[in-house]
Amino acid sequence: AKPSQSPKQSVGPDYRPEQQKPTATVSTAVPFENVHTLSQTPQLIALLTMIRDKNTDRADFIFYSNRIIRLLVEEGLNHLPVVEHAITTPVGRTYAGVMFQGKICGVSIMRAGEAMEQGLRDCCRSVRIGKILIQRDEETCMPKLFYDKLPEDIADRWCLLLDPMFATGGSAIMAVDVLKDRGVPENRILFLNLIASPQGIENFAKKFPKLRVVTAFIDQGLDEKNYIVPGLGDFGDRFYTM
Ligand code: PRP
Ligand code: URA
Repeated sequence: AKPSQSPKQSVGPDYRPEQQKPTATVSTAVPFENVHTLSQTPQLIALLTMIRDKNTDRADFIFYSNRIIRLLVEEGLNHLPVVEHAITTPVGRTYAGVMFQGKICGVSIMRAGEAMEQGLRDCCRSVRIGKILIQRDEETCMPKLFYDKLPEDIADRWCLLLDPMFATGGSAIMAVDVLKDRGVPENRILFLNLIASPQGIENFAKKFPKLRVVTAFIDQGLDEKNYIVPGLGDFGDRFYTM
């Protein structure tokens, strides 16, 4: 099924009367069970509005991107497996809780994906991080693999793949192929992403049906240069050099 165009919706908590809520463009709905979009809260929409604005300077772009990255990492962690874990509290009572099961690692698609590493480190102390350098050719938009450096035991870990922009999907697909070649099963890869295009999501979800995607927002589409629209421009340039 073709995804529908990004709709405008009222934004705000359910208890607030509809006429008191502003409307904003929210994420495009897609029919894939393995794609999770962050809840379209007023906070998330306000943060995205800041980083999409061409007049936002680099310091603010970094600050507000980091806020969204933190939300993505926190949501991503909800998709990792846990096992039952009972503990005793200082007042001698039992609390039936859970604990994370299994080892993880981050894998960033350089350069822009590296911007998401700190958010992961802030939540997962001393997490191992692998790197894959893939660059999209500016003319053809085809991805090119230059380099990868990954933890030796990556096949035994859950991989959190990091890239803020997901346009045609070519770069992320190439990165997943690298991970699969290293023995990481598809169902142990979680792709964390800020803004996706419906085309990228569709290509990816069909090619890797067992891989989970957690994204903040699915946009309307791609322009003639395969940039995401409305998008935010070139993430790497705005975060690192502009
Ligand atoms: C950007 C982005 C993704 C890719 C998305 O990186 O960070 O990796 O493009 O496009 P795609 O889905 O069509 O492949 P880019 O290659 O521009 O390099 P950068 O990280 O250095 O900015
Ligand atoms: N890379 C970006 O940084 N932005 C896009 O819109 C597409 C690819």
